[in-house]
Amino acid sequence: MTVDLIPSRALLADVTVSVAPLEEVRNARTAGVAVGIGKDVPDVVPLTRARLTEWGFTGAVGQTLVLPREDGIVVVTGVGDDPTPAALRDAAAAFARGVGRDDVLVTDLASVGADPGAAAQAVVEGILLGRYRYDAFKTNPDAVPVREIVLLVADASADAARQGAERGLVLARAASLSRDLASAPADYLDAPGLADIAVRLAGEHGLEVTVHDKAALVAMGCGGLLGVNAGSVVEPRMIVLRYVPAGEPTGHLGFVGKGIMYDSGGISLKPSNAMHAAMKMDMSGAGAVLAAMTALAALEVPTAVSAYLACTDNMPSGSATKLGDVLVSRSGRTIEVVNTDAEGRLVMADAIALAKEDGVEAIVDIATLTGACLAALGTLTAGVMGNDEGMLALVEASAATTDEQVWRLPLDRRYRKQLESEVADIKNLGGEFAGAITAALFLAEWVEGTPWAHLDIAGPMRSDVDDAWRTKGATGFGARLLVDVAAGFSSGWR
Ligand code: BES
Ligand code: MN
Ligand code: ZN
Repeated sequence: MTVDLIPSRALLADVTVSVAPLEEVRNARTAGVAVGIGKDVPDVVPLTRARLTEWGFTGAVGQTLVLPREDGIVVVTGVGDDPTPAALRDAAAAFARGVGRDDVLVTDLASVGADPGAAAQAVVEGILLGRYRYDAFKTNPDAVPVREIVLLVADASADAARQGAERGLVLARAASLSRDLASAPADYLDAPGLADIAVRLAGEHGLEVTVHDKAALVAMGCGGLLGVNAGSVVEPRMIVLRYVPAGEPTGHLGFVGKGIMYDSGGISLKPSNAMHAAMKMDMSGAGAVLAAMTALAALEVPTAVSAYLACTDNMPSGSATKLGDVLVSRSGRTIEVVNTDAEGRLVMADAIALAKEDGVEAIVDIATLTGACLAALGTLTAGVMGNDEGMLALVEASAATTDEQVWRLPLDRRYRKQLESEVADIKNLGGEFAGAITAALFLAEWVEGTPWAHLDIAGPMRSDVDDAWRTKGATGFGARLLVDVAAGFSSGWR
């Protein structure tokens, strides 16, 4: 069986997105019609507000009511009382799922947003991400992919909407790619395999790419990545991607992604529970970074971006790293391994060191780093920490734009003593509490003075349920956010 490990790429390459006048709603077979709370109900809806209310439809975001008419259906779609881009994205996802068998979707949802470009973008993202399904391994996939989206808008908004829709398509492709990569099982997607995909995507999206194999990593002294890889029969890879804008770059940003293709815990073996079963997704950070990189040229981002994906599985075996072993990382700092399940920070230390050597002006890292962050913030919100108010604010602003929610945790230096080692410069695990913070403090050691923001996505990497744009399974969290950070970054960002 040959499997396409990034099926969204072909699927979304063929999606067409266009803009048409509002009147077209009458001719559409499947029409999504926005109805807000307390707002007028458009004529095309065959029910009055009172009747909608009787059917339990208030106009809240996420509500849909499918109504038949002569030659098709009208899907009354709630947009709440303030149709922000985030509300429209969620509404569009509900609409798209409400008509799961239809492949041509026509909607006036974007017409109710205040900024037609942002509204159109959000609607396209919502439709495509809401309808996402991972069925690379299904013999008979039952999902019907969206083939065509027609946004109905007023004439004056047409150009802005068209441009916004195009951005939405690029970003939905990136987020879907990120989901594909995270969903791919570890027996099909290992570190060399991800490197092959990165090389192929780099060629298609105008990126430079360098892949460091095991021999190169030995020569480079990347002891963190090699230490985590020690128990594996599969080689590690450090994948370095570079995006250089057409004009003079406005800055140079570094992305670092945790690429643990499968996290068994190593010698500190995880129990065989549901959490362990999700650990093929422990490369979600690297997947989000790779996906984000594929969108930069299409969106003409003016900043140069270098990306470092530290990839390996984390396996137990006779050759695995043992507790008490000391690793020498790329920067020369030595690490005592006291738990092989705290492996993400080990591979990221080397990636951060390489980013600094390349002279990036700031670093954003993204990692499924700690169960502690999942416990603290749940599955809807990523933890964000860092050493620089400007970078933190930039990440928070992007998170608000893309509706990939983040929450700041305190990077309290006083917890640093939990990482003191008797034999090495630092150990890889702190005490019982504040695990998300001590993990970030570990990374901070390699970041040093470089402006930095760290995203811990252990919670939002995955969803148990279909919930607005987050479909059940891998969410692709962070891909759109990173693109927005790159777009907002420039040397003068302070
Ligand atoms: N990849 C995990 C963190 C994780 C947990 C991500 C749940 C997504 C969902 C990480 O490598 C890990 O194993 N962390 C351990 C560290 C342990 C040694 C304290 C954790 O947080 O439980
Ligand atoms: Mn682990
Ligand atoms: Zn891990």
